[in-house]
Amino acid sequence: MTTTPTVEHVQAALARVNDPEIKRPITELGMVKSVDVQDDGRVAVEVYLTVAGCPMRDTITREVTSAVKGVEGVTEVSVSLDVMSEEQRKELQQHLRGGQQAREIPFARSDSLTKVYAIASGKGGVGKSSVTVNLAVSMAAQGLKVGVVDADIYGHSVPAMLGVADSRPTQVEDMILPVPVHGLQVISVGMLKPRRDQVVAWRGPMLDRALVQMLSDVYWGDLDVLLLDLPPGTGDMAISLGQHLVNSEVIVVTTPQQAAAEVAERAGTMASMMHQRVAGIIENMSFLPCPHCGPEHRLEIFGSGGGDQVAHTLTERFGYDVPVLARVPIDERLRAGGDTGEPLVLDDADSPAAQALRDTASRLTSRGRGLAGMHLGLTPAGR
Ligand SMILES: Nc1ncnc2c1ncn2[C@@H]1O[C@H](COP(=O)(O)OP(=O)(O)OP(=O)(O)O)[C@@H](O)[C@H]1O
Ligand SMILES: [Mg+2]
Ligand SMILES: [Zn+2]
Repeated sequence: MTTTPTVEHVQAALARVNDPEIKRPITELGMVKSVDVQDDGRVAVEVYLTVAGCPMRDTITREVTSAVKGVEGVTEVSVSLDVMSEEQRKELQQHLRGGQQAREIPFARSDSLTKVYAIASGKGGVGKSSVTVNLAVSMAAQGLKVGVVDADIYGHSVPAMLGVADSRPTQVEDMILPVPVHGLQVISVGMLKPRRDQVVAWRGPMLDRALVQMLSDVYWGDLDVLLLDLPPGTGDMAISLGQHLVNSEVIVVTTPQQAAAEVAERAGTMASMMHQRVAGIIENMSFLPCPHCGPEHRLEIFGSGGGDQVAHTLTERFGYDVPVLARVPIDERLRAGGDTGEPLVLDDADSPAAQALRDTASRLTSRGRGLAGMHLGLTPAGR
């Protein structure tokens, strides 16, 4: 005589399957999406992975299959995989924290007086980190209290550009103290790795945790400005930032190259979809002042018009003015300053590139809080 397996028996079997990374039962982690049992003993199980492309997907499939096969009356097991939504991942995190409230991010409070600017770009290598560092140092030189979060999981080059590549933050119990340098304070996602040479494959929930850690476990004190160097593109970090700091504004860095403009527009649109305001565009490597004729003759090494194009498109799309904040020329000393850890705005404050960056810093810090974080109620036209 054959027995038909029950859903309860299958669930009980699944409760003995642990997530390979979290090492807790998948049933408890909300990873079982559905269980379907047919009269002839065929069982179909749908499992949620925490993130797409989870390296543990084969392990999970294998262990679920073998656990369910052991249930009496089961003739065949099929396992299909789905991916958790951001919401479900949040719930999972909450659960893992033991129902404890998420740690508070001071900059997310409605009464926070800190201006938060995230520096974003469509593609890599356009000068995002150089811009972040020089804006931050300029603002600190104005006498403001400035914090820098290096959230670029691919590069984390900000500490080196500030000359503190080898520094480690001091930790007091659960509290991390940011590294002080050039009158500002910095923390890098690279500093959260146990060892510097360790390769970490940052994935969605880990990224989110790293960002929250840098914002809430780090003791920033009362900051006037917080600058974040984001990874290039429109990935998970940009989404996490938008979720945790809705009031942050985004500065998009691009080159004059037309081909770069479209990906830069996408980075801006992503910010807008997260209800962040795009404060403006910085066109970097705008031109090379002619070494023969002088700065009036601008050699357009990387083409022209990219900054204007992004500003124009985003202005049209969002219905508010997205200006080109600066055109920063190509300057060998800017690169050199990044390599030695002496930012150009300190080393050669009167050079045209430094001036463009210092002016932008003043412009950003002198803006009233008026529009900062205000939702204009406009929805971007898709994409
Ligand atoms: N205006 C400039 N003139 C000359 N060199 C520059 C300029 N801006 C940036 N660079 C140099 O170009 C390189 C890339 O800049 P940077 O690292 O700031 O870009 P990024 O967008 O942060 O790149 P990544 O995507 O790798 O993080 C660096 O070597 C930097 O020193
Ligand atoms: Mg960078
Ligand atoms: Zn010339």
